[in-house]
Amino acid sequence: LEPPAPLPHLIYVTPACQHPLGTTMRMEERLRLLDIAETANSWVIEDDFDGEYRFQGRPVPAIQSMDRSGRVIYVGTFAKLLFPALRLGFMVLPPELAGRIVNALSTTGQFAPLLLQAALADFITEGHMSRHLKRMRRIYAQRRQLFRDIVTERLRDEITLSPAEAGIQVVGYLRDGIDDIKVSQAAAKRAINVSPLSKYFQNTAPTQGLVLGYAACDAAQTRDGVERLVAAIGEVLG
Ligand SMILES: Cc1ncc(COP(=O)(O)O)c(C=O)c1O
Repeated sequence: LEPPAPLPHLIYVTPACQHPLGTTMRMEERLRLLDIAETANSWVIEDDFDGEYRFQGRPVPAIQSMDRSGRVIYVGTFAKLLFPALRLGFMVLPPELAGRIVNALSTTGQFAPLLLQAALADFITEGHMSRHLKRMRRIYAQRRQLFRDIVTERLRDEITLSPAEAGIQVVGYLRDGIDDIKVSQAAAKRAINVSPLSKYFQNTAPTQGLVLGYAACDAAQTRDGVERLVAAIGEVLG
């Protein structure tokens, strides 16, 4: 990690599960990032999305827990722990920012509904959340492994799956010469929604790949979905 020029006022990272690649930021990279933020006197937003779904490797502490200078804003969401339509998330703020954020929320009218917050608080304090998370981690780990096995078996020559340790999606790199936008369009015709990796690149030449969500599918749906993807890639290859 080299300090970018000009030095940033704000750095936004998804260290638990880089979006979209799913890689986890290593300890030395986290410390280096804090160094850079201190040099630049910048705020850091640590969006810990999907940090709860880590399937391999040792747990890595949040950047905020290593920060001695109160510059890291930790952001979490219940979208993946429960469901996206809940529209609830949370921030753990450096104390000096709390008042300003409350003011900003009040000015913008971005209130989280109180009843939902109260119900969620009960859900957490009564222990349902940790049981739910334990159960979903087990289910997703099984689905992830099955998905990896089937893709490796059926698309060995076309797709190389990223070895990422976390997240409820996985990146599959496409063999040279296969266009990810064409594949995602051919997949959409077969009711399969995959994101082309190339759309995430801004300043460098794009890598061709697919961002593949596996977590919502049981074994039968996974087999069926991969077959549709095989057909979509077949169509693109002609
Ligand atoms: C990088 C990233 N952060 C956070 C979220 C969760 O956002 P929200 O809580 O607004 O649904 C997502 C959702 O996909 C995401 O991709």
